[in-house]
Amino acid sequence: MFRVVCLLAVMALWSPAEALDNGLALLPPMGWLHWERFMCNTDCDTDPDNCISERLYMQMADVMAKEGWKEAGYQYVCIDDCWPSHQRDAQGRLQADPKRFPGGIKKLADYVHSKGLKLGIYADVGKNTCAGYPGSLGYYETDAQTFADWEVDLLKFDGCYMDWKLLGEGYINMSKALNKTGRSILYSCEWPLYEWPFQQPNYTAIRETCNSWRNYADVYDSWSSVKSITAWTNDHEEVIVPAAGPGGWNDPDMLVIGNFGLSHDQQESQMALWAIMAAPLLVSNDLRDICPRSKELLQNRHIISISQDPLGQQGRCTAKRKDSFEVWERTLSKNRQAVAVFNKQEIGGPRRFSLAEAPGWRICDPQCNVTQVLPQYKELGVQTLQTKTSVSVNPSGTTLLTVTPISRDFKLYWRSKTTL
Ligand code: GLA
Repeated sequence: MFRVVCLLAVMALWSPAEALDNGLALLPPMGWLHWERFMCNTDCDTDPDNCISERLYMQMADVMAKEGWKEAGYQYVCIDDCWPSHQRDAQGRLQADPKRFPGGIKKLADYVHSKGLKLGIYADVGKNTCAGYPGSLGYYETDAQTFADWEVDLLKFDGCYMDWKLLGEGYINMSKALNKTGRSILYSCEWPLYEWPFQQPNYTAIRETCNSWRNYADVYDSWSSVKSITAWTNDHEEVIVPAAGPGGWNDPDMLVIGNFGLSHDQQESQMALWAIMAAPLLVSNDLRDICPRSKELLQNRHIISISQDPLGQQGRCTAKRKDSFEVWERTLSKNRQAVAVFNKQEIGGPRRFSLAEAPGWRICDPQCNVTQVLPQYKELGVQTLQTKTSVSVNPSGTTLLTVTPISRDFKLYWRSKTTL
């Protein structure tokens, strides 16, 4: 049995703070980002297929356009660190490494646009990027204009090599510089990640400045990394969840589905929890060579429709049990709700969880329609508060459901955080 320890908010009163007013990221952005999988591989002589070069992004764009990614909603093809030359040009502008990007970024953007996709680029608020390439400090207007001239659509702005006290000012100035170009450039920040070691960031200011923001450490291709991100989110939800909404999103970092480190159940957990968290869905894997099951999971339209729900309300962990079950719930539009039952126990076999123990289950008063989305899609039919419905959840896996109340008058209900 769960014990209610605190009441958080009545869902009808939910309204996020003012978002960055650039008309972008009304839903969590979706796309592909090179970092986790390809890192700073600049060795095109011996590893031409995996090095950071224009070829890599062109090939990813080809696959995204051809193999269902674009139709599923993945739109941005994003460059991360290690793309530029170590020197700015004579006018002080960033330039792409000429050997690895012989056509330059403008041509690459044209190519990506010709596939009906958008191009993202990477820079840093400080003196250098994290991998030691030139940073934008002192060049915000020049760099914003350069990216606009190249017709770039997204900027990931890192926070290395910067005095933490100047982080806010730097991120705000770049936001203004981007706006001044007149081009719509989605602004993905890492401001809070670099401020947390010193003080609690001001999420109202962050939401007014950025379209998404990283809060916590880089994701690795491992279950311990994905787990630590969900645990951090859980521990800080009261600070970060209210900041999210159309126009600005908490970014728990890339999806590492389709790589080497996660079992299929763990991949399902990452996908389900990232959808509940209203996280940007930026995949970092090799789309040219991905196992069909991972591809199917990443393109699962039922999960994507939870992620992209138009209400744009981030979900949260609503219940924790001592036996390592967690329930994560997200309020969706039309009074619907997504419920993820996450089995954190890494020993034994599948375990059953009674849905009556999920706090949001009370919307099934008098009854609701329940659909299981993961691990297999299945209609569980009409359920009531009294129905003894239970689901099976694999070790380190997640069973994901959508719940639609059936009643003439929708009842307001309290979201509660519960623990054993
Ligand atoms: C930081 C960021 C990562 C990635 C690397 C690149 O660690 O958090 O996401 O961009 O820098 O160097």
